[in-house]
Amino acid sequence: MKVYMKTFGCQMNVHDSERIEEILMRAGFEMVEDPAFADVALVNSCTVREKAWHKAISEAGRLRKPKERHGRQLVVGMLGCVAQQEGERIFSLVSGMDLVVAPDHYHRLPALIRQCAADGQRQVAVGFDAGHPEDFLALSEAAAAPISAFVTVMKGCEERCLYCIVPSVRGPERHRPLDDIEGEVRRLVAGGTQEVTLLGQKVNAWREGERSFADLLARLDNIEGLSRLRFTSPHPRHMSPEVASAFGSLRTLCEAIHLPAQSGSDRTLKRMRRRYRVDDYLATVTALRAARPDIAISTDLIVGYPGETEEDFAQTLALVEAVRFSGAFSFKYSVRPGTPAEKLGDDVSEAEKASRLSRLHEVVLRHEQAFRAQQLGRTLEVLVEGQGRMPRQWSGRARNNQIVNFTCPADVCDPALRGQLVRVAITRVNPNSLEGEWHP
Ligand code: 5AD
Ligand code: SF4
Repeated sequence: MKVYMKTFGCQMNVHDSERIEEILMRAGFEMVEDPAFADVALVNSCTVREKAWHKAISEAGRLRKPKERHGRQLVVGMLGCVAQQEGERIFSLVSGMDLVVAPDHYHRLPALIRQCAADGQRQVAVGFDAGHPEDFLALSEAAAAPISAFVTVMKGCEERCLYCIVPSVRGPERHRPLDDIEGEVRRLVAGGTQEVTLLGQKVNAWREGERSFADLLARLDNIEGLSRLRFTSPHPRHMSPEVASAFGSLRTLCEAIHLPAQSGSDRTLKRMRRRYRVDDYLATVTALRAARPDIAISTDLIVGYPGETEEDFAQTLALVEAVRFSGAFSFKYSVRPGTPAEKLGDDVSEAEKASRLSRLHEVVLRHEQAFRAQQLGRTLEVLVEGQGRMPRQWSGRARNNQIVNFTCPADVCDPALRGQLVRVAITRVNPNSLEGEWHP
């Protein structure tokens, strides 16, 4: 059977989709790029904000249309966080759906799809860790190792920031044993992986007995052949001085961190139950820059949280000015069902949220461009991902996460360049990327 899958949401979801494809292909399914040729259409969904939920629901509606209109045989399924959130309710939200499968049940997908195709009965698999508590969706030994790979180190979240739906859709925290993590990274590296990104909803809170996240990073840094190590997303409250200083001492740890601040107002942080103060965040930034002065620090910010005043918002702007983020994702607050913040109401008007968001964008963009401008004249190590749009142009990412396009001499321009680490002298700064010359 041919399967089409559309993925929304975070890197955790992107990683889940890669593993789902592998699970399905090993079970004899074929992945297709065009839903018109599919027998099975899946949406791997996100529900972190209301907009994401809407996108998932409307995509599912779009995908099941040929079935409704033309009576085509098609199995349509909702996966991911909306699946866990809605469960059976999905069938009344989107008519014509057949499957609802939450993240801890992906290993059962081949059987569930086949069952559905055989008898037309709806299948529901939701809830946490039904018999597979150790299933961190690792890449199988048979699969080809990607140049850049994700490795899950922990699942779930119990932090309970008041606005966040993740604890209810991704379940309790489960930390993966260090030996398992190391084993998967070693296997990937032996297969040719250059870069590993450790994943977890609160990745830096990982621990095993006395061992902390800093110990995990140090252990992985020793793996010969691993060129780059990254992690996402850390929580500011769990950023230890040891992890900050690791950016200066570990060979593989890339000089880039995405550290969601959410707000620059102590009053708002307290009302979000983030359990750190702006000064704590700034102290972490200072420690990161002491370890690695050229580190790229990016963040997530929410505007229009219930009760956020103009003064609170001004403090968020001030935080962006103080930290000089290399980039930030900013979001309008949206109520998520079942979260504690739901009870706080949603008292900042849509117009005010939009105004704050656009003012924030302006400041964020200025710092983003300033960070990029600082790269001019530097020589950066680039992990080549593929060919660019122009002849002899290649594209990849620097350790600080900037996209770099570069040209190279005709004699070395062959497909083998993909996956190589090259040095590029930066000669031009574009609005969303850097440009340079290959520097042998
Ligand atoms: N409203 C708006 N943004 C939210 N985020 C999480 N929950 C909400 C919400 N209810 C944002 C946070 C988080 C990112 C993934 O999504 O900034 O870091
Ligand atoms: Fe979206 Fe959160 Fe689920 Fe990721 S874990 S897909 S961000 S709701």
